[in-house]
Amino acid sequence: MIGIFDSGSGGLSVLSALRKKAPKADVVYFGDIGNAPYGSKSPNELAAFVARGMQELAARGATEIIAACNSISFSILAGAAGHDRLIEMTRPAARMMRKYAGERVLLLATQATVDSGIYREALWSIVAFDELPVPNLATAIEEGKSKEAIAQIVRDALETRKGNSYDKILLGCTHYPLVRDIIEKEVRALLGSAPLLDPADAVAEEGVQRFDCAGGGMLKFVISKDSHEFRNRITPFFLETPSTLEVI
Ligand code: DGL
Repeated sequence: MIGIFDSGSGGLSVLSALRKKAPKADVVYFGDIGNAPYGSKSPNELAAFVARGMQELAARGATEIIAACNSISFSILAGAAGHDRLIEMTRPAARMMRKYAGERVLLLATQATVDSGIYREALWSIVAFDELPVPNLATAIEEGKSKEAIAQIVRDALETRKGNSYDKILLGCTHYPLVRDIIEKEVRALLGSAPLLDPADAVAEEGVQRFDCAGGGMLKFVISKDSHEFRNRITPFFLETPSTLEVI
């Protein structure tokens, strides 16, 4: 069974991509809402969350892991998961970026991801790289804040790059595709038209190639704090496949 791990709802963007390619894969999904947001946490805290998340997933039958959270990629690549059947976000994302070699790319991500330097290191030699933390955006999305509140957070961050132009905007947080339309509109207004790139497809593709995707299409959701927004977001999955939700 495949385990998917995120601080909350962000990994659902990766789960959706995986289900399009592998609808029969059995998946257990752990959203660590009780410890969210991850993007403002220290590397030590994140390593501890990773270790605990891996235990929760293993206890429920996960043998292969997709770490659907960029903020923990640094810890994952440093070995915090203690797992070798594992895919994280940034390597597939970096491979995806090879086809845009030489282009001007702006990464939008959490503070933890930007501070880790993980994308900078992977991409500086491939593209003309710039990066921008978007404080509080993942939390606003997780908590289901209004469109206007979310647009304001994106606008405040993008203002710092006004006058720059980019060929592509890389979404380096799995929560961001959940508000793709809002980000797209703010980018267009402040930076001109630059397509948004979501690594979820590249990650799902690697999952299909490396992991066992044969099963009954069952989904087990596990969250560390109850959340009305999370329950709403997973409703469509419950309509299409046998699913359970456990709050721990
Ligand atoms: N979705 C996560 C990421 O990709 C973490 C967001 C957060 O909890 O701050 O970085």
